Amino acid sequence: MRSSHLFTATFLALTALATTACQNDVQANAATTSSTSYSPSKKPVEAAVAQFAKGKTPGQEVFNRNCAACHADGVKFAGTMALAAKYDGSIPAALEQRKDLTPEIIRYFVRNGVSIMPGYRKSQITDKELDELATYLSQKTLIN
Ligand code: HEC
Repeated sequence: MRSSHLFTATFLALTALATTACQNDVQANAATTSSTSYSPSKKPVEAAVAQFAKGKTPGQEVFNRNCAACHADGVKFAGTMALAAKYDGSIPAALEQRKDLTPEIIRYFVRNGVSIMPGYRKSQITDKELDELATYLSQKTLIN
């Protein structure tokens, strides 16, 4: 009995010590954080997206913002890999390199989606943006 009381007391004391130590750590961390001069802009994510999306044309910007995550050129991109499998190398897997895309095809897939690709509402990609995007992705088709 006695030794179990002693054990409990020791355990409680150690727990208290550990808790205090943790609180000190947290306070120390908080102090370090608040003393740095990091001052993020109001919307860091939006700023990063805008920076990434910068394109040479409005259409390229719409592409970078909405499509590149799946359709950029490379093996990391789900859309590009799906199209590589679909066409088995007979045409380029990356949309920006295709020479057979017409504005109508782009409009259809963007509004309706396919497989894991979502359809985009007008609140996400406006008609004007879709026109720019369709022009951008069909430019190789139109000049060839
Ligand atoms: C979440 C990933 C994802 C996003 C984002 C995405 N797509 Fe797709 N897209 C796919 C996949 C996957 C396929 C292929 C589906 C299949 O297996 O047929 C595809 C297919 C397409 C096709 C059909 C091509 C063909 O020859 O069959 C077009 C056109 C297309 N996407 C355009 C776009 C455009 C333009 C955007 C941006 C507005 C976009 N996609 C955004 C995943 C995506």
